[in-house]
Amino acid sequence: MVIQYKHEPFTNFSEEENRRLFTESLRYVQSYLGNDYDLVINGERISTKDKIVSVNPANHDEIIGTVSKATVELAEKAMKSADETFQTWRKTDPEMRSDILFRSAAIVRRRKHEFSALLVKEAGKPWNEADADTAEAIDFMEYYGRQMLAVKDGVKVESRPIEHNRFRYIPLGVGVIISPWNFPFAIMAGMTAAAVVSGNTVLLKPASTTPVVAAKFIEVLEEAGLPAGVVNYIPGSGSEIGDYLVDHPRTRFISFTGSRDVGVRIYERAAKVHDGQIWLKRVIAEMGGKDTIIVDSDCDLELAARSIVSSAFGFSGQKCSACSRAVVLEDVYDEVLARVIEITKNLTVGNTADQSYFMGPVIDQAAYDKITSYIEIGKKEGKLVAGGKGDDMEGYFIEPTIFADVDENARLMKEEIFGPVVAFCKAKSFDHAIQIANNTDYGLTGAVLSNNRKHIECAQDDFHVGNLYFNRGCTGAIVGYHPFGGFNMSGTDSKAGGPDYLLLHMQAKTISEMF
Ligand code: SER
Repeated sequence: MVIQYKHEPFTNFSEEENRRLFTESLRYVQSYLGNDYDLVINGERISTKDKIVSVNPANHDEIIGTVSKATVELAEKAMKSADETFQTWRKTDPEMRSDILFRSAAIVRRRKHEFSALLVKEAGKPWNEADADTAEAIDFMEYYGRQMLAVKDGVKVESRPIEHNRFRYIPLGVGVIISPWNFPFAIMAGMTAAAVVSGNTVLLKPASTTPVVAAKFIEVLEEAGLPAGVVNYIPGSGSEIGDYLVDHPRTRFISFTGSRDVGVRIYERAAKVHDGQIWLKRVIAEMGGKDTIIVDSDCDLELAARSIVSSAFGFSGQKCSACSRAVVLEDVYDEVLARVIEITKNLTVGNTADQSYFMGPVIDQAAYDKITSYIEIGKKEGKLVAGGKGDDMEGYFIEPTIFADVDENARLMKEEIFGPVVAFCKAKSFDHAIQIANNTDYGLTGAVLSNNRKHIECAQDDFHVGNLYFNRGCTGAIVGYHPFGGFNMSGTDSKAGGPDYLLLHMQAKTISEMF
């Protein structure tokens, strides 16, 4: 029997010993920076001339690694390998597939700080955020391994005398996994693990800004006994191999986490049936958010202020769950805003290899340019009350930024910025607050700080988000506890880390036998 799932605890960095171990891991990761990583197709390492160069967003001069870039020919080779391997992998014992995930989780747990230290370097994560990313990767493997054991025999349907009926879930086929840079380990590993444990084979195209952590994960899967060809590692350009694989007639499903623009593009392309294609492709898409924290008149205002700060500025606001709008009831607005400004002014920004910095850089030049351009828009739409400056000389650093008195219909209140920028908006009543919160194309996360039972009940019905939290922030969903995914333009509401996530990677088969 497998022991009951329990989420991986976070590391307490106030303990000297943990800080020492983490510093050692940072040194270890430093020793392999700049290494070159091959593609992995059917277990074979393939090096290409054209490379993706992964750099530390906190320091442009520090190369994390160079990674071979797949061409269309190599993507085709990977597709053939995944397609062929599917014929054997689909018939493997689900328990064996789960065991490979459990073993992978154990290997990662033993190398936990190394993975987190790599995330500090490759994604610019602060230590605690990197630690949470690694913990979530472990959680996904542990959780999906158990979910497979739960669904492997299907669901009971009725039988009749001399007629025996079965209802089973079988895998889909080859999945293209396009994973994001903001949870470069957790989400990449989670998407891959779910597809593989449910019997599919995979072409993994990690984000081009964070391909090294994915290469390390491939090594873990191999060490855990995953057969060649089940996961093929093919970093490359979205417009080249991304489109090619999304369009490919042998692609059975696409699992994507990333921006709304790319998600919509994939969804549209996947709908087209190409020559030789004998199925309708399935798309699992997790896209953006414009997430709101509502602060009610009657609530713990200190908790509200702290929740806004941590949800808006944790990992520089680069989470689809991040709070980018604080909607505050007018009678407590000034007090909450003043406290948020006060806390924010004490936050430090810098290279998070040094643990003392609260916030690191944003991911790359494009992100830096986009966020700073929204700060300029914000200066016209609201009152800049904290931050507002950036510095991209050495790394892509942007101060935690607050705009006050922003109109509910302003661009700052409706468009996803994906950076450390939060807009404050005043609400006349609780109903008005809900109306403002829903006034967006997205519907991912939201939080309400309130002691008013009637308002809590009302938000449960009317605040239209996939993940709704009360009396806490709106980030930090835990696998198995808070299945994660959103409504409307936030995606297909495919609840990652939830009880039905694996079923999105499977199809149901009814088997009826007469005796
Ligand atoms: N699952 C993460 C969170 O809840 C975001 O992807 O913050």
